[in-house]
Amino acid sequence: MEELYSKAETLALRRKHIGPSCKVFYAKDPLKIIRAQGQYMFDEKGEKYLDCINNVAHVGHSHPYVIKAATKQMELLNTNSRFLHDNLVQYAQRLTATLPEKLSVCYFVNSGSEANDLALRLARQYRGHQDVITLENAYHGHVTSLIDISPYKFNQLGKDSKKEYVHVAPSPDIYRGKYREDHPDPASAYAEEVKKIIEETQKNGRKIAAFIAESMQSCGGQVIPPVGYFQKVAEYVRAAGGVFIADEVQVGFGRVGKHFWAFQLQGEDFVPDIVTMGKPIGNGHPMSCVVTTREIAEGFGASGLEYFNTFGGNPVSCAIGLAVLDVIEKEDLQGNATRVGNYLLELLAEQKDKHPLVGDIRGVGLFVGVDLVKDKQKRTPATAEALHLIYKLKEHRILLSADGPYRNILKFKPPMCFTMEDAKHAVETLDALLTELEEATGMKSENNASTNVQCKRKTTEESSQPEGASESNGHMNGAACRQENGIYSKKRSVPSKRIRT
Ligand SMILES: Cc1ncc(COP(=O)(O)O)c(C=O)c1O
Repeated sequence: MEELYSKAETLALRRKHIGPSCKVFYAKDPLKIIRAQGQYMFDEKGEKYLDCINNVAHVGHSHPYVIKAATKQMELLNTNSRFLHDNLVQYAQRLTATLPEKLSVCYFVNSGSEANDLALRLARQYRGHQDVITLENAYHGHVTSLIDISPYKFNQLGKDSKKEYVHVAPSPDIYRGKYREDHPDPASAYAEEVKKIIEETQKNGRKIAAFIAESMQSCGGQVIPPVGYFQKVAEYVRAAGGVFIADEVQVGFGRVGKHFWAFQLQGEDFVPDIVTMGKPIGNGHPMSCVVTTREIAEGFGASGLEYFNTFGGNPVSCAIGLAVLDVIEKEDLQGNATRVGNYLLELLAEQKDKHPLVGDIRGVGLFVGVDLVKDKQKRTPATAEALHLIYKLKEHRILLSADGPYRNILKFKPPMCFTMEDAKHAVETLDALLTELEEATGMKSENNASTNVQCKRKTTEESSQPEGASESNGHMNGAACRQENGIYSKKRSVPSKRIRT
């Protein structure tokens, strides 16, 4: 494929015409990607990169079925949702069928930020409350209303940047957080923190409109909340007249494998009041959605204000959304996420045993984090090492990113067509690079005797089989890897409930 500009020219034009705060990946040596297919991206020289991070290209880059659905509808009609159209209602029907029954009303919008901004409007209109509880390190979007509730962003603006109506609860992180894997009931302990915030807020005469959290924190460091946390938080928030907003912008649409939505990892007894969706919903086409209950939707309508969105819910976006749902189902991408995700977790657990730099492996389905540490006991984040590895992996044509508050967590969230071979290749490369780095920095490469000694994995023969990848080990982190799951040791040291995958 012919390039319009050389890579250097593209970079120069970008520097001239694109806002300097719009950053590129690999700033020291940016990539110019000109096409992509499945889980692979190709640069201007035709070099092929394994994409381990693109959760937007959910069913695979340039999926022919999605392209066909888009083209077919574009040839026919694209217009706004003020006209009746079957795509809109069919899509709303299909999408809500994936959710618990009471989440039945959709608002189609165009980006994750738009979805979360609208969710806040719905929540505030519902009872006339204003305040929002958000989690430490959370990111919910780039518009003003969301920077305000995103500590991941507003913390960078200085210490007075938190607005008075925003309250920050501790991240329910059992590896790095306030209550860890050795706590008898981290779910309740973290929920109590939210309760305390609510009580404090009420004492000051303020009223809670919403608690918002990603069902699993992504930018916040691949954090998987302990089971039971959301139920308790929802109970406290609802008692205060607020609603529970589950942000599924990164983690929805079957990424966790067994469930379509990541909040379902908490158990069937948990149903959010509002769910927001984005990124994977259109496989790259800009679209998003807010789903809520009839009651909340009617409360929003009661203001008399019309909600009109020029592009949200247009026939082309809905055709694409429907095609994405079809592909997830037809290609059993949830099954693939479970099988490949489990295999990836097993391979990474082996790295944890082997490498002093690997402090924790946590994940579920194709949402996996590798927490790099300088010291396993102290859990000191290995930030520079993570960045080094990201660049080295790129040299080996593997795209991975580092995130979390210390940017020390390697994030796997690949297209859902990621294969066992891809997982093996990525981990083998990481293994070699970790060895090289540990040798160069004098870190002792020992058989991780200091922590998690009871984590054992199956034999290679067993685990390399798709069938051998047990569903029940779909989630693990510092605590969960010690829990009963048929693969790891039966020694139990954590009484908190394990996540069902
Ligand atoms: C959890 C979460 N919510 C919302 C957003 C905002 O989505 P968008 O960039 O589509 O506006 C993001 C984007 O990274 C996100 O990660």
